[in-house]
Amino acid sequence: MEIIKIRGKKTLSGTIEIGGAKNSAVSLVPAAVLSDKTIIHNVPEISDIEALRDILKYLGVKIVKRGSSYSLDATNLENKPITLEQSKKLRASYYFMGAFLGKFKHAEMYFPGGCSIGQRPIDLHLSGFEKLGATITIDYDNRYIIDAKELKGAEINLRFASVGATVNLLLAAVYAKGTTTITNAAREPEVGNVIDFLNSMGAKITGKDTSTLVIEGVKELKGGEASVIPDRIEAGTYVIAGVINGHNLKVQNVIPKHITALTNVLKKMGANIEVHEDYILVNKTTKLKAVNIKTAPYPGFPTDLQQPITSLLTQAEGTSVVTETIYENRFQNVPYLVQMGADIIIKDNKIIINGPTKLKGSTVITTDLRAGAALIIAALAAEGETSIKEIKYVLRGYENIINKLKNVGGKISLEDV
Ligand code: UD1
Repeated sequence: MEIIKIRGKKTLSGTIEIGGAKNSAVSLVPAAVLSDKTIIHNVPEISDIEALRDILKYLGVKIVKRGSSYSLDATNLENKPITLEQSKKLRASYYFMGAFLGKFKHAEMYFPGGCSIGQRPIDLHLSGFEKLGATITIDYDNRYIIDAKELKGAEINLRFASVGATVNLLLAAVYAKGTTTITNAAREPEVGNVIDFLNSMGAKITGKDTSTLVIEGVKELKGGEASVIPDRIEAGTYVIAGVINGHNLKVQNVIPKHITALTNVLKKMGANIEVHEDYILVNKTTKLKAVNIKTAPYPGFPTDLQQPITSLLTQAEGTSVVTETIYENRFQNVPYLVQMGADIIIKDNKIIINGPTKLKGSTVITTDLRAGAALIIAALAAEGETSIKEIKYVLRGYENIINKLKNVGGKISLEDV
């Protein structure tokens, strides 16, 4: 079993380079099957991408990897079902539903995997496919069979601005006959990254970065190139770590406007951060103030940074209230923070944090990707040594996290025990 060991209270100083966004990359890679030959740059080396590479190989897609650039050739893409094991490896396996429905008018796969942070239904994806003309049956094995004689443009209003549903519907609608309009679409920058990629293949999508997307269906998509945008959640995680323990810490290759919700909160807390054109500089902060945070779809405060910032809030003076509005089970990091010395109470979809409290090194367990990041941040702030188990969740979404922290002075190691 692999664990991360961290000795806390070490100053982080130097430069951390941010990689390609996990949530973009995991949509761009499945989107590549809609075309023939595509190139995707700046793909992060994370286990979710490894899982997608395996699925693509199984489907007959040739992949040539040069550094972080992938050349993909889907000319011989096979129209075959994605297996249970492949579907369960990651959340984003569901993008093969939309891509296959668009390309072959037929998709077969199981409910996707991913972190257990709530129910995470896919009803919005499925009802959108139905609006486009698909019929959906669930077979004896709980497998979704999604089939259409033809796809026809439709008006789809999403009950919730879901990232996954927006992307999945784009992937199908690009090949539908006529015009599709998606209202209350997700505005996350990762969705824009996918739109640019699809348009570079010849798709006709307008409305990028707005909540109304209009897709004129096309008969054929060819070529296509994309560069994965910098990971705003990875950047935010390191900026938060920097506020805990950093001095002269540069978080480089960031699109600051993508994390304005975070930097505004940090400034309100009194954190010593400077936002530059493509980097954020973090210096020592003497006193942090408590704040209230409520998660919301982009451009609101990202739920993916809710757990990481909770660790920081344990070090702020006063009472902070964090309200989680997206997922019902995203406080699994809290009992471990309490074990380390934090004063946190969970009340329905809120947590109440009284700070500052001294954190002490302990043995803790990661329950999901961002809970893992939160525990790493807490461990950096703690006296003594922390061992973090079930580290596989963290490796799902943080590229090279051990070395990135080590290179700026973190006392962190990956050990096989
Ligand atoms: C994506 C991100 C994830 C992030 C989340 C919210 C990927 C691979 N993952 O997840 O990191 O935390 O956005 O920013 O990009 N919902 C429904 N029905 C649906 C779909 C969603 O009710 O069909 C609800 C969910 O239960 C949840 C909310 O909508 O409450 C957000 O889900 P969604 O935006 O779809 O999240 P994911 O795409 O799964």
